[in-house]
Formats: sequence, structure tokens, C-alpha cells
Amino acid sequence: MNRVAIVTGGTRGIGEAISVALRDMGVKVAANYAGDDAKAQAFTEKTGIPAYKWDVSDFDACHAGVEKVEADLGPVDIIVNNAGITRDSTILKQSYEQWKAVIDTNLGGCFNMAKATFPGMRQRGWGRIVNIGSINGQAGQYGQVNYAAAKSGIHGFTKALAQEGAKFGVTVNAIAPGYIDTDMVAAVPEDVLEKIVAKIPVGRLGHASEIARGVAFLIAEDGGFITGSTLSINGGQHMY
Ligand SMILES: NC(=O)c1ccc[n+]([C@@H]2O[C@H](COP(=O)([O-])OP(=O)(O)OC[C@H]3O[C@@H](n4cnc5c(N)ncnc54)[C@H](OP(=O)(O)O)[C@@H]3O)[C@@H](O)[C@H]2O)c1
Repeated sequence: MNRVAIVTGGTRGIGEAISVALRDMGVKVAANYAGDDAKAQAFTEKTGIPAYKWDVSDFDACHAGVEKVEADLGPVDIIVNNAGITRDSTILKQSYEQWKAVIDTNLGGCFNMAKATFPGMRQRGWGRIVNIGSINGQAGQYGQVNYAAAKSGIHGFTKALAQEGAKFGVTVNAIAPGYIDTDMVAAVPEDVLEKIVAKIPVGRLGHASEIARGVAFLIAEDGGFITGSTLSINGGQHMY
């Protein structure tokens, strides 16, 4: 597939698996990350995929980052908005900073990256945008008003932008992962995680490669009729 893609948060976890899956499809991939230079360097050494550092919650940095990638690899055809963070706590304890950081990174990052790339995709008549939402944006989750709101917002953002892109060959879809065995989930206390796994009909956590498989499906050349959809990949935990 002779295309150029940016995967935000593409150097570890789910994003790393997505970057590798797209590379294996022949796509020229740029993997963005926020600050973990050592992981990014190890990722590039292992995969041969270049890594680019910028903060997706920063509007201007997204524009500058996309310009740099386009100078190196060519016009961007595919965006996977995967960068995300959690700052969990009940609303009684949640600070405004925790709320804002999660909204600005998870949801704001989708807006900032779309603003930097959607006009070019529209003009060239082809584009694929995949936004990584969450089961917790679909179902809600105790202690995550910030994260659930951001992820739920991503699902609405996807359906609205899909309508704007449809006439121009630009599809916009979301994936709602369930619990996947990455660093983000490793931060969940073991006893809580055991209770979560007990509620997953498939009986285990998901693997990052199982989300990457969904992204590969959605960005395919012959995927032009799939737009505005949310693909749940959650081991049957929430059937939406
Ligand atoms: N793991 C799950 O069970 C699960 C479930 C549902 C949804 N998700 C969603 O899937 C996505 C990936 O999750 P993950 O578990 O793979 O996360 P992860 O292992 O914590 O990795 C997060 C990635 O995002 C990058 N990132 C964070 N903030 C950023 C920012 N402001 N700008 C640019 N990059 C940033 C990180 O960069 P650095 O390496 O530089 O820190 C890292 O590459 C997230 O959107 C998450 O909400 C995950």
C-alpha cells in the first residue's frame, strides 16, 4: 500500500503494534510520541520506523510535526489518533488539571491532528482517519469522568467528521478497545485487574496486535464504504 501514515503515540503499546502492522502493509509510517526518548529510540532501532516527538495536545506542534513528516515522507494519507493518557480519580478528588490534561490529549489531539491533515486528504481525494476510543467511552467507568468524556467525545467526533469527509474519499472511523495488555493497563492494581478480566467473556486481556488488525482493516484501499463506524474490540465485554 503506497501511502504515508502518522500513528500518534506510535512508539509503544497499542500504537507500536499499529505502526508495525502498517509498515508490514508497505505503508511509510511516522510514529509520533510525547517524551519517552529511550523507548522511541529502541522502537526505531527495532522496527526501522522513524519516530517524531511532539505533544498532540499542542495545536501548533501538531502542524509543525505534520510539516516535518511531509517533508521527509510525502503528503500524509492516513492518521491514526492513538495517543492517550489516563489521570484516574473520582470527581470528588479530580483536579481541573487532571480533567484538562486528559481532554486535551485524548480528544484535543484528534482535533489538532485532523486540522493539520484533513484539508490535504480532502484536496487529494483520499484519506483514512482512525481514532482510538475506548470501551470506557461507550460504557463509562468509575473514577474516569475525564477519560470517559474524552473517549465518548472521540466517538462523536468520528461520526461528525465522517460526514464531512464522505464526499471526498476520506473515511473516518473509530476503534473502541477493551482492556489490552499495555503499560496503561499494567498501572491498574492487580486485584482490580482480576475483577476486570473476570468480566471479559473471552477470559483474558487483549493484545495490542489485535487492535492493530482492526486498524489495518479500516485503512485498506478497498475500505472506502466503511465510514463513521466504531469497531469494538473487547473480547465480548461490552456489546454496543
Ligand atoms: N491499553 C488499554 O487497555 C486501552 C483500552 C482502551 C483504549 N486504549 C487507548 O489506546 C491508546 C493507546 O493506549 P496504550 O495502552 O498503548 O497506551 P501507552 O502504552 O500508555 O502508550 C501511550 C502512547 O501515547 C503517547 N502519548 C501520550 N501522550 C501524548 C501526547 N500528549 N502527545 C503525543 N503522544 C503522546 C506515549 O508517548 P511516550 O512513549 O513518549 O510517553 C505513548 O507512545 C490510548 O488512546 C488509550 O486511551 C487503551
